[in-house]
Amino acid sequence: MRFKSAIHLFLFIFLNKLFVSQQIFVPNERPEDAGLNFTQLGNKYGQTVIEHNVVTEDGYILKLFNIPGNRSVPVLLTHGILDSADTFLLRGHTSLVVYLRKFGYDVWVASVRGARYSRRHVTLDPDKDSEFWNFSVHEIGYYDLPALIDFVLSWNAVDKLSAAGHSQGNTIYYVLGATRPEYNDKVNIMIALGPISYLNHYKPPIHTIIKLGPLIDHVLTTFNQEELFGDNSIYRTEINKFCTPYEVGYALCGEAFFSLAGYDVEEFEPAMFYVVIGHFPTSTSKKVAKHYLQIANNGDFVYYDYGQEKNLKLYNSETPPPYNLSAVTMNVALFVGKNDRVNPIENVRRLNKALPNVAQFKIMDREKFNHMDYIWGRHMYEYLFPYILEMLERFNS
Ligand SMILES: *[C@@H]1O[C@H](CO)[C@@H](O)[C@H](O)[C@H]1NC(C)=O
Ligand SMILES: *[C@@H]1O[C@H](CO)[C@@H](O)[C@H](O)[C@H]1NC(C)=O
Ligand SMILES: *[C@@H]1O[C@H](CO)[C@@H](O)[C@H](O)[C@H]1NC(C)=O
Ligand SMILES: *[C@@H]1O[C@H](CO)[C@@H](O)[C@H](O)[C@H]1NC(C)=O
Repeated sequence: MRFKSAIHLFLFIFLNKLFVSQQIFVPNERPEDAGLNFTQLGNKYGQTVIEHNVVTEDGYILKLFNIPGNRSVPVLLTHGILDSADTFLLRGHTSLVVYLRKFGYDVWVASVRGARYSRRHVTLDPDKDSEFWNFSVHEIGYYDLPALIDFVLSWNAVDKLSAAGHSQGNTIYYVLGATRPEYNDKVNIMIALGPISYLNHYKPPIHTIIKLGPLIDHVLTTFNQEELFGDNSIYRTEINKFCTPYEVGYALCGEAFFSLAGYDVEEFEPAMFYVVIGHFPTSTSKKVAKHYLQIANNGDFVYYDYGQEKNLKLYNSETPPPYNLSAVTMNVALFVGKNDRVNPIENVRRLNKALPNVAQFKIMDREKFNHMDYIWGRHMYEYLFPYILEMLERFNS
């Protein structure tokens, strides 16, 4: 009896708090940029945006945006998990795309398979065919990157491009370099912003999520859910409900965000939070998340684990082999934040040792530098972009 009333009391306080605060803070003032797509954002910030569609060897239709410049060496930007091309423009006049354009660079920004703008395939329907979502990080590196790179090279009639990838946007280059070594020679320099390969040394809550991985997978399988965070999915509806109301959204969702990415309130202020939440998270496959969880549980940077029987057929080994990082001979620059919870520095030190051609291994000076600051941080044009420029200049000549 007492127990029951305690629960009721708790619920009453909780709901009361929620509704009262919502009454106070709704209506929300949604910033315009939260609702603009890549081309609209680019145009708003003074850029010409040309859209291309690139078809991969296995039939995915990828959107590739070009913001043309007057330099002959193109720069390809790739986004992280649950993110899209939009991410590189969300800071407007101080975003990486606009910054690189100021220095004349020819900028190319991709959305990889499954992400916003690239939920398309020549025969499969992402809403009806679960086979569309049958890809892990491996397929993004193995099929998407070669298609994107070859398209940019042939469009510009050049042999090499430069690249920068945030989070998963750089993981896929290690997959590429290890599985299709001929592509190493097509990259001048790959600038890794928040390098992701080995996934160890975690503390809660990420540690907890990793341990709960199999359970989460089981629940999603029960719901027959192969797509994660689609723009029309139930998660999206929940995110919109809880995260977009002004003030409440930052308090409720900002907390969850910072506890995963690392606290850096100065670089990720409420106004920017409401822009970001209009674009992130976007869709990917459950299999991508599962691949990362496998890597975390395995300890090594390994291929997708299909289970003993199928592993034997695919890899000639019961367990998934590690990607051969010695074969990733392209020049790589590693930029890492001290407060990056998604990516503890120890993992990047190990990557630094495993890669044969590291041009720079830089721990960012700013103590609070977290996993999302690279792209969403307020002062990246001061803290980070000059280093990117330095790398591009050094390897573009
Ligand atoms: C962006 O929005 C405009 C206006 O709705 C639309 O014409 C354009 O096709 C959109 N671009 C992309 C890449 O979705
Ligand atoms: C290239 O573009 C940049 C930025 O738009 C401009 O400052 C520079 O003068 C241009 N260079 C040439 C050679 O046109
Ligand atoms: C998913 O892809 C894997 C690897 O390419 C393939 O072996 C498997 O048959 C596919 N699964 C389904 C259900 O088609
Ligand atoms: C890994 O790649 C290096 C460089 O290409 C090669 O010498 C080595 O034999 C490879 N290791 C394995 C296990 O395939």
